[in-house]
Amino acid sequence: MESVLPEHIPRHVAIIMDGNGRWATQRHLPRGEGHRQGTENLRRIIRAATEFGIQILTLYAFSTENWGRPRREVRLLMRIVEMVIDRELDELDGEGVQIRHIGELDGIAPALQRKVKTACERTKNNTRLIVNVAFNYGGRDEIVHAVRRIVADGVPAEAVTEELISSYLYTSGLPDPDLIIRTSGEMRISNFLIWQGSYSEYYATETYWPDFDRASLLEAMHDYSRRKRRFGKTPEQAAAEPIVDEDDDEEA
Ligand code: FPP
Repeated sequence: MESVLPEHIPRHVAIIMDGNGRWATQRHLPRGEGHRQGTENLRRIIRAATEFGIQILTLYAFSTENWGRPRREVRLLMRIVEMVIDRELDELDGEGVQIRHIGELDGIAPALQRKVKTACERTKNNTRLIVNVAFNYGGRDEIVHAVRRIVADGVPAEAVTEELISSYLYTSGLPDPDLIIRTSGEMRISNFLIWQGSYSEYYATETYWPDFDRASLLEAMHDYSRRKRRFGKTPEQAAAEPIVDEDDDEEA
């Protein structure tokens, strides 16, 4: 890939796909058209992520707060998720994409729940790229569920560690995101991966999600490659411990 060194390729990229509505409004189109274009863009970005050697892509599709949108829009967003599964599953599966769901399926229409489960089940052995679909997801809600399960499992207080909490999150077993991208110029985290994103690098762009293309992702990765990640350490300590993933041996 256009000169991002392998050690600077983020292993896990998470995206807040924002600005579909404004994209449409700017063009005097209904908001739904923005969501449709945003959905089209998913395919491009998933393909680019594979090409660039990203291993995990987490996409914020529907938040626990999105239930507060007008009912018509909520219905449309649900239909879009269903449509993406119907239309794209074969191709994503063929391309080696493993689909995972993060969030709560409770509260989702049973037919859609089944489709989400089928998509995850069918692709679970794929290894080229993990795509976490954050659907009916909220970071606080995720932590509440984790704590409830920890308590229900009878874990003693002294056994509660950061690692243990991480292992009870929807992203259990996955590395935290290296890079969190938000499109459309907003500068907030909106309850997305609030635990996992503690040391993520953040990248915000004015570009609306439907226009965030391969080149935009590459630009975000270039920006990331110039960051000095220190994880709370001094520059000298951080320099002594390069964060190179030993598995990476190709230049993307
Ligand atoms: C934000 O734009 C976008 C969303 C709330 C939905 C994004 C969902 C998709 C693109 C489909 C995802 C489907 C899968 C299966 C991953 P907005 O409506 O908040 O835009 P605005 O801030 O301009 O109003």
